[in-house]
Amino acid sequence: IHFQYCTTVNMQFDLTAGDCLLQVQRSALQFAIMSEPIRVLVTGAAGQIAYSLLYSIGNGSVFGKDQPIILVLLDITPMMGVLDGVLMELQDCALPLLQDVIATDKEEIAFKDLDVAVLVGSMPRREGMERKDLLKANVKIFKSQGTALEKYAKKSVKVIVVGNPANTNCLTASKSAPSIPKENFSCLTRLDHNRAKSQIALKLGVTADDVKNVIIWGNHSSTQYPDVNHAKVKLQGKEVGVYEALKDDSWLKGEFITTVQQRGAAVIKARKLSSAMSAAKAIADHIRDIWFGTPEGEFVSMGVISDGNSYGVPDDLLYSFPVVIKNKTWKFVEGLPINDFSREKMDLTAKELTEEKETAFEFLSSA
Ligand code: NAD
Ligand code: LMR
Repeated sequence: IHFQYCTTVNMQFDLTAGDCLLQVQRSALQFAIMSEPIRVLVTGAAGQIAYSLLYSIGNGSVFGKDQPIILVLLDITPMMGVLDGVLMELQDCALPLLQDVIATDKEEIAFKDLDVAVLVGSMPRREGMERKDLLKANVKIFKSQGTALEKYAKKSVKVIVVGNPANTNCLTASKSAPSIPKENFSCLTRLDHNRAKSQIALKLGVTADDVKNVIIWGNHSSTQYPDVNHAKVKLQGKEVGVYEALKDDSWLKGEFITTVQQRGAAVIKARKLSSAMSAAKAIADHIRDIWFGTPEGEFVSMGVISDGNSYGVPDDLLYSFPVVIKNKTWKFVEGLPINDFSREKMDLTAKELTEEKETAFEFLSSA
């Protein structure tokens, strides 16, 4: 812990009283307690998600307003010119929490002594592609970066995988870093979670914050299952179940699910680029919850290792579950009743993940 003097100490002598009075003006002497800096890596740092994400990390809205950061930016060699521009802009933001910013194309520099790794760098899909079509191009990146985590990062590092197909890339990175606990790896399904919250909020004319405990089960793909059977919404100050509040089961079991499942593709169709602002916001939400924990009574969705779950999902998959987080450690939310409709959808997305895993390992063994 460093103590930083913000201003000077004022001394005054009161001679009429015959003694020396040291007046320490409370407002003048302030100790700001600053933590040790943490080392945070963002890969794909010259890309569009990073461009929306880096400012949130640097301004304290992810790790807190008193957490200094050494920010490491990794991209590939041809992007070093662009990355230089990003570095200049970060300097120009004059963010006091950024103790240092390191831009590099070398894994051995990027992965050294990391506390947090945000693995974004990879190819995004274009219109007409499924996320699993990216498997061949991207899975090699995550094998290589998993190996670099194993070699250079702290064993306590928290790894968040964003690059698609995010679940299988995350599993690949984890398997390539066997000495880092599997529980330290998670993949982003918070964007889907936020999409589900927003769709419910829009339908009911409330704000997204009034909706809680939606669940994304499974893969960050079109087989994901957005489930609101356990979700609550605040209406006129009272919490009620979403099914009860909406009284529109056919929308909840139909259009709501497909809208969330297909939202990534809809954004690509409209923007000709994949979502970046909303992805960066979701990454910030995901990491902030890992760092500070989930609010009492709330759970969030996160792709995590399925080992030991009580929902009948096969072990050794990186599957999105409802989790609660405390002391930087996640736990499955236990005991939620699963109806037949949900069961079928949860199994379907598990099947896709099993197939994706097998295909990824085939690519990697033949590479
Ligand atoms: P982008 O093309 O704008 O940026 C990607 C960056 O990664 C580029 O600068 C590229 O040079 C870099 N890169 C490629 N290989 C790399 C490597 N080996 N090491 C480091 N950097 C490397 O793409 P984007 O829009 O920022 O999206 C990035 C990824 O995130 C894509 O795979 C996209 O599909 C995925 N994504 C996931 C979610 C999610 O919710 N999980 C949401 C949105 C996007
Ligand atoms: C998203 O969900 O927006 C991203 O995963 C990008 C994509 O390919 O859909």
